[in-house]
Amino acid sequence: MTDLHLWLRHEARSTERRTPIVPSDARRLVERGTTLTVEESPQRIFPIEEYAAAGCRVAPTGSWVSAPKGAVIVGLKELPDEPAELTHRHIFFGHAYKQQPGATDLLRRFAAGGGALLDLEYLVDDQGRRLAAFGFWAGYLGAALAVLHHRGRLVAPLTPTSQEELDEVLQPAAGDEEFTALVIGALGRSGRGARAAFHTAGVEPTCWDLAETRDLDRPALLAHDVLVNAVLATTPIPPFVREADLDDPARRLRTVSDVTCDVGSPLNVLPIYDRTTEWTDPVRRLRKEPPLDLIAIDNLPSLLPKESSTGFSGSLLPQLLEFGVGGPWGRCLDRFHQVCRELGITEGEFRHV
Ligand SMILES: NC(=O)c1ccc[n+]([C@@H]2O[C@H](COP(=O)([O-])OP(=O)(O)OC[C@H]3O[C@@H](n4cnc5c(N)ncnc54)[C@H](O)[C@@H]3O)[C@@H](O)[C@H]2O)c1
Repeated sequence: MTDLHLWLRHEARSTERRTPIVPSDARRLVERGTTLTVEESPQRIFPIEEYAAAGCRVAPTGSWVSAPKGAVIVGLKELPDEPAELTHRHIFFGHAYKQQPGATDLLRRFAAGGGALLDLEYLVDDQGRRLAAFGFWAGYLGAALAVLHHRGRLVAPLTPTSQEELDEVLQPAAGDEEFTALVIGALGRSGRGARAAFHTAGVEPTCWDLAETRDLDRPALLAHDVLVNAVLATTPIPPFVREADLDDPARRLRTVSDVTCDVGSPLNVLPIYDRTTEWTDPVRRLRKEPPLDLIAIDNLPSLLPKESSTGFSGSLLPQLLEFGVGGPWGRCLDRFHQVCRELGITEGEFRHV
């Protein structure tokens, strides 16, 4: 038995159908003695009945604000704007440590209430490797959308789907022309997802990772028809494709899918566009003749809510089963305190932790 009380909240964003804990993993937590309260949520991909059947307590939408003080609130994306004071420990992607808009306000809410953010992006092992991430399905979708567009089969607006439905249209059909594809960052989570999608599409891509880009062969890059960028850049490096390369007469490249989406950042390896594309309008033409089309969607895994939730929850489960003060959760908490200190947010208020 444990004293851990997890509280799975409803996601404030109405298009967010994913969840960090799926019913089968909820059952494992309950069997191990965790109290798991799950809020009702109209858009969550898994119905509340499945959580109830797994032994979870059911609570109304948004009731985490009055959850017992010791409960740990679990979600994926942003909290609603109220309450002004956050008294609980919260596990979610806060997007608050890289000076994002609203970051300081969010951290101040934690300081004011004495709660803490355990940011999922910073849940890492002792080598600094992320322990739970959505990369695989981001890469899968990034490549799938590129293939569908390249074959003239991409239908907009994009809507959440299942892998089964996606794979049906992704499979090669009679009359499809052959093309070449390149995945950069091919050894990472997104890169593996991209390779899997290409495989389903009947395309065997060229795979590059750190070793192949150290001395970048840009003409070879531009000689592919489709590029999927899935790198996780940590220091600025020379861009893979520059604006001038789009006008290179030798360019074969027609479709770029940028899974990384570091647009506007000094780490951006594809500084050939200035804003991401959206589900409503997923493709932007960067050059007319010969054409070059860009797909740069920054919430790809939400398009496969069931599969991406299941994968993510499977990685998070072992960490939740070991929830405690040290290890990865301790590192999360240290990071939170460190960022607050750097921003001059008073730490005396952190009563819980
Ligand atoms: N668009 C979306 O919806 C979405 C969703 C999830 C993740 N992402 C982004 O996708 C990117 C990849 O995430 P991940 O989870 O796959 O990361 P990862 O750490 O698992 O993999 C990144 C890979 O990039 C490689 N790499 C780093 N620098 C490189 C370089 N200069 N040349 C070639 N390869 C290089 C690494 O060696 C690694 O294999 C991240 O930027 C992440 O933020 C986007």
